[in-house]
Amino acid sequence: MDAKIYSVTAREILDSRGIPTVETMVILNSGYRGTVSVPSGTSIGKYEAVELRDEDVKRYNGMGVLKAVTNVNTVIAKKIAGMDAFSQGAIDKTLVDLDGTPNKATLGANAILSVSLAVSVAAANHMKLPLYRYLNRLAGTGKPPEITHIPTPIFNVINGGKHGAGNLDFQEFQLIPATNKPFHTALEMGAEVYQSIKKILIYRNAVHSVGDEGGFAPNLFTNIDALEILQEAIKSSSYKIGFDVFLGLDIAASYFKTPRGYQIKDRSSPYQSSELVEYYKILHEKYHLLLLEDPFDEDDWESWKKITGSLGSDVLIIGDDLLATNSARLTRAIEEKACLAILMKPNQIGTLSEFFAVAVQAKQHGLKIVVSHRSGETNDTYIADLAVAVQSEYMKFGAPARGERVAKYNRLLQIENELKL
Ligand code: PGA
Ligand code: ZN
Repeated sequence: MDAKIYSVTAREILDSRGIPTVETMVILNSGYRGTVSVPSGTSIGKYEAVELRDEDVKRYNGMGVLKAVTNVNTVIAKKIAGMDAFSQGAIDKTLVDLDGTPNKATLGANAILSVSLAVSVAAANHMKLPLYRYLNRLAGTGKPPEITHIPTPIFNVINGGKHGAGNLDFQEFQLIPATNKPFHTALEMGAEVYQSIKKILIYRNAVHSVGDEGGFAPNLFTNIDALEILQEAIKSSSYKIGFDVFLGLDIAASYFKTPRGYQIKDRSSPYQSSELVEYYKILHEKYHLLLLEDPFDEDDWESWKKITGSLGSDVLIIGDDLLATNSARLTRAIEEKACLAILMKPNQIGTLSEFFAVAVQAKQHGLKIVVSHRSGETNDTYIADLAVAVQSEYMKFGAPARGERVAKYNRLLQIENELKL
């Protein structure tokens, strides 16, 4: 039996935050099938593709996704039924054309992405290939990237900003094992330090419940307090900071930008751009920052250029909200030397083919890639296979705790084992 699409069916399910999302199943004539659920962000960038929500306050506070589900079950299903599941490019182009807007506002990127990804899972199953192998074949232009490593994890161990308890301005306080560690060792390191943080928080009588991404969301007062705890936790382990393990920050600065400057709790008056650059330099000297994500607002290009120019030789400056996995924004960032790495989230752009095109563009211009989950996840592990397939340098799947996060890490353990890496 052939690999033509027999049916496409979506439903509304819940994500890890208890908010609805879309799950889609694609069945081929051969009987092979693929089911994928899409993630959803909390700190959503201005330039991301549109996540279609029902806005019906009588259901899920307006967050239902029945419109997106209906779009899959009607217009999309009708249009792609009978297409060959191996024609990922043609299917994605059909989805983009059917939507007809630059940001997928008609059908919703949640609807479109769920179909795009589910098609690839069904195709991989039809070929009896592990998903990462099948995706790897689609990932390059011409020659796919050779699979030589599992991307290095960036563990989000303390959650602030929109993911936390509301008292830390920076969104993610991260722990990054050295890139030469095998994945299973990196995971062990992340989990051990995570447990040490918990002990320190208990000892300090600080709240040790967790935030959206499984990292602790303590009732600390300043961003520095969080970095100090992280440093203390590493010191209490057998790992050496700046050698075995490094720190990173996703600042998500758009969320504390005010008309008067960048307002954080570490100081009463807002920081101007040049002051904030100096502040980041001090943080780097003190805490060995390996990376800084979204250090400035997504429209503040001048500051991005400034920080990449002055700190970029030492610290990986990563664009998330700045780039929104969008080729046009990446082109501008390359031209203006605004950052050195791109955070890549499939639902920021909406189809698998566009995701791969952005990855190729980033690699061609020497930018490093971080494949990333969202704060709202399900137990779906697609993103783990995707990170291996594109052979990104890093991946960001949250804390080494909570079901929807460890599902991805555990999937990577399987892949590592299978590849004998
Ligand atoms: P989000 O956060 O999924 O809530 O957007 C992740 C990030 O900013 O990297
Ligand atoms: Zn981010």
